[in-house]
Amino acid sequence: MHSKPPSHTDLIEEIEKEHSFLRVELNRLREAMACRLCHGEDCAHCEPGAVRRCQQAVDTHFSTLLSYMHDHFMHEESAMPRHGHGISPALRDTFRQHTEAHADMMAWAAKAVGAVDPCQQGQSMLNLIEDWLNKHIATYDDVLLAWLRQH
Ligand SMILES: [Fe+2]
Ligand SMILES: [Fe+2]
Repeated sequence: MHSKPPSHTDLIEEIEKEHSFLRVELNRLREAMACRLCHGEDCAHCEPGAVRRCQQAVDTHFSTLLSYMHDHFMHEESAMPRHGHGISPALRDTFRQHTEAHADMMAWAAKAVGAVDPCQQGQSMLNLIEDWLNKHIATYDDVLLAWLRQH
């Protein structure tokens, strides 16, 4: 049996739901890193137990976020129209840049995971999510969502 392709309304709803999850996850990660000595430097000033707890929290959030990022980017990219009526070269170019921006964020996340201590990892991931929420969504996702709403 063939499943029906998702409608634009379903896609918009799904993408917006995922953006809300991202905002919640940003706050969770901030809480997990609430250690006052963790200011993006290193863990040398924290006692070993606190470093371990921080590491565990950051690891948990990282694996959630990495699989979330992958799935979310796939959802958006599969919602991007490639050709057909109303797809101008400029719009196609924006979608291409949007896809590249996703790849850049995945590379950023991979680098964050490879950082030596949880403070640096967490700080790098926080910067990534803030950049994502403050810039990427307004620059790219809103263009895609506007197109989906109009078609
Ligand atoms: Fe998005
Ligand atoms: Fe996006």
